[in-house]
Amino acid sequence: MNTTETTGITSHGHVSRVLIIYYSFSRQTRKLVRAAEKGLASAGVEVTSERLIPVKHLKFPFGSFLKTLYMMIITFFRKRMPVSELSARAFQEYDLIIIAGPTWSFNPCGPVLSFLDTYCNDIFPGRRVLPIISCRRYWRYHGHYLKKRIRKCGGYPMEPWAFNHPVPAPWDTIGLFLTLMGRNPRRVAILKKFYTRYGHNNRQLHEMEKRAHDLGLQLQQQESA
Ligand SMILES: Cc1cc2nc3c(=O)[nH]c(=O)nc-3n(C[C@H](O)[C@H](O)[C@H](O)COP(=O)(O)O)c2cc1C
Repeated sequence: MNTTETTGITSHGHVSRVLIIYYSFSRQTRKLVRAAEKGLASAGVEVTSERLIPVKHLKFPFGSFLKTLYMMIITFFRKRMPVSELSARAFQEYDLIIIAGPTWSFNPCGPVLSFLDTYCNDIFPGRRVLPIISCRRYWRYHGHYLKKRIRKCGGYPMEPWAFNHPVPAPWDTIGLFLTLMGRNPRRVAILKKFYTRYGHNNRQLHEMEKRAHDLGLQLQQQESA
């Protein structure tokens, strides 16, 4: 192997570089991104992360039943949520781009949609792009839509890495809705037993770290081939 796992410097002196662009509303994607950063870095990859910041702040939780329902409806129709300008480092050379964010009403979330509208022609052309998806359960359409958009911008989409909330149906839906409203599902008597947590667990974060590490090693090998 031409790569040293500790430094990541190939025999040609090249360190693979990965850009992670992400949005996280309730910190679940952020957890996955932190694990991915750790895994890639442990393979010697240089990782740059760029957080999408909505121009109009989105407050978690939404605070009421009606506000949550309203968000579910507008996001079903792919409502865009404009994001602040990206930093200059997002436009540098990378070996791989990761676009990470939650599923909102079967679609990519509003900030990611706005990012795609504004920047995908500048950042994706000629690059491999890996979608990372955080969701309660239903991410297939989201993944399909992202791949289509990445291709349209001249990028090469990889199969998405999707992570569900590890809670069985229908408790995942009820628990999510209550959490978004600002209620604690674990304080509701009949839910306490079935809805153990909101979001991803440590096993999933370890899995992400391991996958990212393996991907990092692959990138390094390709660079040195
Ligand atoms: C407005 C809204 C709509 C959502 N719709 C879906 C959905 O259609 N399918 C799904 O699996 N999860 C859905 N979710 C759940 C999120 O995808 C999930 O909680 C995710 O882990 C949140 O990631 P984040 O904390 O990085 O924002 C929705 C969440 C919100 C806020």
